[in-house]
Amino acid sequence: MAKYQPKDFFFRKAKDEGLRARSAFKIDEIAKRFDIFEKGQSVVDLGAAPGGFLQIILNEIGPTGFVVGVDLAAIKPLGKPNVKTAVMDVLADDFAVKLEALHPGPVDVVVSDLAPKTTGVKDVDLARSHRLAGIALDISRARGKPGSHFIAKLFMGGDFEAFRADVKRVFSDVKVVRPDATRQASMEIYLVGLSKK
Ligand SMILES: C[S@@+](CC[C@H](N)C(=O)[O-])C[C@H]1O[C@@H](n2cnc3c(N)ncnc32)[C@H](O)[C@@H]1O
Repeated sequence: MAKYQPKDFFFRKAKDEGLRARSAFKIDEIAKRFDIFEKGQSVVDLGAAPGGFLQIILNEIGPTGFVVGVDLAAIKPLGKPNVKTAVMDVLADDFAVKLEALHPGPVDVVVSDLAPKTTGVKDVDLARSHRLAGIALDISRARGKPGSHFIAKLFMGGDFEAFRADVKRVFSDVKVVRPDATRQASMEIYLVGLSKK
């Protein structure tokens, strides 16, 4: 008998439900578990291509909410007026300024699914992943309203505990989550910062 592969289950489920990526189930699980989203919120989604998270977020915040999604890769239109997408490099020096121009004002939730292209050299991949998560935390520090939330993917290991401590300084509570849709071999984990101080 063929070996059971959770990868296939979530891949098929995403196709069946018209979702662009299996990762949609990760944000869905985290959002439900911690009651992250509400109608009318303003959300920033970093590393948003092809748009699986955006589909879930749009559903959660409804037509009165607004979300901006950025990525190195272009995101196909989502067909809704309350979402903006842009091709941007979060590592660029002017990223925060450009993001603010695209989506001004305070933000209720900053989400980051940013992931570096892996090199296979563990320390390099860890350092790159943590750098990307750090940029997401900077955006949350600068733009998040008091009481806002933060969700960021990062690879487990290296400076993980130091990063968790950084998140704890900004948010009242910090959770570590490995959603069910995460591939078994993946070293990714999500840090969730609840209620910005
Ligand atoms: C796991 S994918 C995101 C999947 C997405 N959350 C979804 O549900 O469709 C990680 C993304 O991070 C993006 N990324 C990596 N480095 C980046 C950077 N420096 N600036 C912007 N995006 C970046 C990649 O292009 C990739 O699309």
